[in-house]
Amino acid sequence: MTPPQLCRWYLYSSVQSLQTEAVGMIARAAEQAITDNGTFSMVLAGGSSPHLLYKRLSALKTNWAAWHIYFGDERCLPAADPGRNSNMARDAWLDHVPVPQKQVYAIPAEMGAKAAAAAYAATLRQVGEFDLVLLGLGEDGHTASLFHGHDWGQEADSPVALPVFDAPVPPAERVSLSAWRLSQAKQVLFLVTGESKHEAVMNWRAGANIPARAITPRHGVDVLAESILLEG
Ligand code: 6PG
Repeated sequence: MTPPQLCRWYLYSSVQSLQTEAVGMIARAAEQAITDNGTFSMVLAGGSSPHLLYKRLSALKTNWAAWHIYFGDERCLPAADPGRNSNMARDAWLDHVPVPQKQVYAIPAEMGAKAAAAAYAATLRQVGEFDLVLLGLGEDGHTASLFHGHDWGQEADSPVALPVFDAPVPPAERVSLSAWRLSQAKQVLFLVTGESKHEAVMNWRAGANIPARAITPRHGVDVLAESILLEG
C-alpha cells in the first residue's frame, strides 16, 4: 500500500522566479549535504522544463567534485542523440562545470530498455537515499517515464529501474527509476511550467491517481509551479 503523498505547492508568477527559487533550493541542498557527508547526490529530470535551470546551475559556486549526478529516466536512443535526457543536461550544464565525469551516471539506454534497466539497478546498488530528486510533470500527469497503464513500481520490493515499452510519449522505449526508488530521497522537487500542464495540475490537486502522486518520500514533495496553472 503506497503511503499518502505529502505535497507542498509553491507558486510563482513567472518561470524566471520559479527557476531562481529552484536554483536556491538546489544550492542549499548541495551545501548541506556536502557539509554533512562530503558528497551531494542529485537525480535529474528530463524534458524541456529543466533546460534553462540547468544552464543557470552552471554559474553555481560549489565544490563540484562532491557532486554525483543520476538520471530519473532516459529515452532509448543512440548514446549521442540530442534527444537523450543525459545529453540535454550535459549540453546545458554538466559539460560546463568540473563535475568528475565518473560521477555523472548516465542510464545506458542505448543497450535497450531491459538491459539498461538491469545495468542501472547495478549502478545504484551501493547508492542509498538520494539527497535531491528533480522531476517534471507531463501533460497526462506522468513523471520520469512512469505512465498511466504501466507499472509505476510503487512497492518497496519494486525493481529499482523499470524498462518501459510502448510509452505514450515518443520514444516508445525508455528506462525509468521506479516510483519507490525515486521516493528514497531526502528532498523531491517538481518543476511544473507551461500552460499545457494545467489539467495535470488540477487533477493532481483534486486527488487523482496520477503517476506524479506515486512519489512519496518521507519528507514529502515540493512542487514549484506557475501560478497560472492553478487558475480556473
Ligand atoms: C522525459 C521526462 C519527462 C518530463 C515530462 C515533462 O523523458 O520526457 O523525463 O518525465 O519530465 O514529460 O516534460 P517537459 O519538461 O518537456 O514538459
